[in-house]
Amino acid sequence: MTRPDKHNLDGLSDLTLAVHAGNTVDPGSRALRTPLVMANSYALDDDPSQISWSSTDGGLYTRNTGVNQLALQHKLAALEGGEDAVALASGVAALHAVFFTHMRSGDHVIVADATYEATFKLFTDLLPAKYGIEATFVDISDLDAVRASLRPRTRMIITEVVANPTTKVADIAALAEIAHAAGILLVVDSTFTPPPLFRPLREGADLVVHSLTKYINGHGDAMGGAVIGRRELVQPIKDEAMVDVGGVISPFNAWQIVRGSVTLPLRLRQHLASAPVLAQTLEDDPRVAFVAYPGLESHPQHALAARQFDGRGFGAMMAFALDGDSDLHNRFVSNLRLITSAVSLGHDESLIVHVGTEGPRVRHYPEPFRRLGHLRFSVGLEDVADLRADLLAALDATF
Ligand SMILES: Cc1ncc(COP(=O)(O)O)c(C=O)c1O
Repeated sequence: MTRPDKHNLDGLSDLTLAVHAGNTVDPGSRALRTPLVMANSYALDDDPSQISWSSTDGGLYTRNTGVNQLALQHKLAALEGGEDAVALASGVAALHAVFFTHMRSGDHVIVADATYEATFKLFTDLLPAKYGIEATFVDISDLDAVRASLRPRTRMIITEVVANPTTKVADIAALAEIAHAAGILLVVDSTFTPPPLFRPLREGADLVVHSLTKYINGHGDAMGGAVIGRRELVQPIKDEAMVDVGGVISPFNAWQIVRGSVTLPLRLRQHLASAPVLAQTLEDDPRVAFVAYPGLESHPQHALAARQFDGRGFGAMMAFALDGDSDLHNRFVSNLRLITSAVSLGHDESLIVHVGTEGPRVRHYPEPFRRLGHLRFSVGLEDVADLRADLLAALDATF
């Protein structure tokens, strides 16, 4: 079963792609939206002897792909400008799927020093201990250090575009050049920088990973992950990590994420407009010890971010700390009225989480993060004036 798109998508703009890509008139009901198909199995042909039981084209079994997953994959490939996409159960399932599929025991990888927790844990603990993978953590902004870490068995370079939580920015085009000169893959987690803000495949990345749970769904009510790139790299992920290991996305979540992603470019406009205002408000306040946000001139990779994102924005994630101890940070968070203390990011509502100075990841963070801890702040879709007032009122109540 294939799902031809009713539109030729070539040349369409981001807003239009977000509305139309992946959606078709349902041939059975003539519904204008791809219906939610909650079925584990699809009817087989009268003579099923020629069927490939491991097919990932749909029409067989939902662990091999369902109608809503196909629609989501079609949309993600169009939004990122990739040949193919696979949607999986969560962002972490997508990260694991790439490593599980494209690495062998004894391989070596170069990993950005600041990454999301699960990537860090996979390469400091699980993959080395269970599968004999070796990892070197490098300062990804130091391209000479990246080159110097290459080994004969290096298989890939893994980075986030804007790192969670330090907001360190990676130069994706430069890393792609290093990777390709060495004949290895560049894998980029672009969760903080969804399209149309940034498209790593255009800069030479081989595979892009997203936690769909964040901006792409955008409403904080469905988990998913995706890997997007050339078919020759994505198909083995479908075959192995999805069909054989079972990390498939549920039809309901796929349907929900397609629905959420229709407004991605519109939502991003608001996220990207509000974040710099709030970052500047915090940086200007003497009660704030530091703010890490790529849109601030004080950010070490501000010039790179401005060039790489080409004026479209700097994301809506920032980290900051106050002039005070851990208790003071907790008091500040409890004094916030609108901004909610909760993990996750990229939701419609603004979220903040207080992260202390403990834990193995922290030694890779810059000095102020190590000394003061930080508040990771995901700027949501509320009116920026209300968010600004909330931050300032909480600061007044805390100091
Ligand atoms: C950069 C990044 N990658 C991956 C993930 C994992 O996504 P999920 O929670 O959907 O598994 C997260 C979650 O916060 C993230 O921030």
